[in-house]
Amino acid sequence: MRQWLARTWSNLFSVSWQVLCLYRLIQFFRRKRGFKFLMVALAYFQQVLSGCHIHYTAKIGKDCHFPHPVGIVIGSYVQIGDHVKIFQHVTLGSHGRYGEEAGYPIVEDDVTIYTNSIIIGALTIGKGAVIGASSLVLSDVPAHGLVYGNPARLRGFICTCGEKLAKDSVPQSEAHDAVCLVCGKCGARYTVSGKALERFSKNT
Ligand SMILES: CC(C)(COP(=O)(O)OP(=O)(O)OC[C@H]1O[C@@H](n2cnc3c(N)ncnc32)[C@H](O)[C@@H]1OP(=O)(O)O)[C@@H](O)C(=O)NCCC(=O)NCCS
Ligand SMILES: [Zn+2]
Repeated sequence: MRQWLARTWSNLFSVSWQVLCLYRLIQFFRRKRGFKFLMVALAYFQQVLSGCHIHYTAKIGKDCHFPHPVGIVIGSYVQIGDHVKIFQHVTLGSHGRYGEEAGYPIVEDDVTIYTNSIIIGALTIGKGAVIGASSLVLSDVPAHGLVYGNPARLRGFICTCGEKLAKDSVPQSEAHDAVCLVCGKCGARYTVSGKALERFSKNT
């Protein structure tokens, strides 16, 4: 009970929590007839409160977190999964190419998007991926991929425990060109096939 009270108290002063609560409220009124004015007013208040703009057609999963909720733009029809962390000044939206049908990003569960990154177009950021600061992401990111740069390129992989994977000196595959990776934190071992990370063993 005390823990719940402490969490609720700290949530009340968390702008991230307030922004996401307002988002849920806007979704609630969106489904009700005759509440359009209230929906628009709440969206306005949300934007003035934080400087973040979340379009009412965007979908956001549960337990997402904005550590520094300023300047985040989540455009129309963007889909965000559960436990996604989005840092300040991140933009997600359509490509905006003239004459082309608009496409929108899908962000799967457990993704972290660091500050100042821009993710645009019909692409998927795979589960557990990490987008480094100031990246321009224009194409799919594989699950657990680490990308950064402009345009963002695949630079490595992230373990399910959140640690960056390192090259493994112990061969795990008979294929000569197989890339073997190991987690320095939990000891999990992986192989990379194409751009996909495959779990080899929990730890050894
Ligand atoms: C991508 C990131 C997670 C770490 O990646 P990493 O592979 O461990 O990075 P390293 O520090 O080992 O650097 C490896 C190389 O990539 C470069 N690099 C790292 N992050 C980069 C980025 N976001 N954009 C461009 N280059 C980057 C480094 O300069 C280095 O280049 P070099 O080999 O030529 O010297 C980190 O750099 C990052 O972007 N963190 C986000 C921090 C942030 O936004 N914090 C929020 C604070 S409120
Ligand atoms: Zn690990």
